Amino acid sequence: MLPNLELDAVREEALYCQRCDLWQTRTQVVVGEGDPHSSILLIGEGPGENEDLTGRPFVGRAGAVLDKALEEVGLERESVYITNVVRCRPTLVQGGRISNRAPKAGEIRACEPWRWLELNLVNPKVVVCVGAPAAKSLIDPKFKLTEQRGQLFPKEDGRTYIATLHPAYVLRLMSADRAAYNTARGHFIADLRSAITAAR
Ligand code: URA
Repeated sequence: MLPNLELDAVREEALYCQRCDLWQTRTQVVVGEGDPHSSILLIGEGPGENEDLTGRPFVGRAGAVLDKALEEVGLERESVYITNVVRCRPTLVQGGRISNRAPKAGEIRACEPWRWLELNLVNPKVVVCVGAPAAKSLIDPKFKLTEQRGQLFPKEDGRTYIATLHPAYVLRLMSADRAAYNTARGHFIADLRSAITAAR
């Protein structure tokens, strides 16, 4: 794999980021990983507990769903670049329990410079927005995932953007509604296949 020294420097600098309050509760910053010159970049919502502990994106249960889907469409995880709209775990403390929450608009904004640098230094042909927060941040603030997932959006930066369902959503359906799970997983796989075709 060809190194990307500029990206390495950015990732190193991001590890000390204090651009929003999430630095106070994180264990560590979770920067992107994978092929630093990949033609496909996947961008999720933000680190959860496992990502916060390991410092790697998509390594928890949702990550396992993603890994299986990548395998099914013939992509090695190491051959794509995987990152998130925020790089520190957003948490909620309730009754002494810590849980994940969606990132706030201000946190997403604060993390934008890192996203911009990662995107421009990896320089992918296709950006796959994994879940609504990424689609709203990178494609259109009014993006409707249920209606617009799977569509290709060519943008002025020369890249093609596509949004797909979040694997955590697919996972939740697995025990709740088997038929809906099969449909959602089928969409997830189809969207990844569309991304591969667009990246050729
Ligand atoms: N969900 C995300 O959106 N990103 C991760 O890295 C893990 C779970």
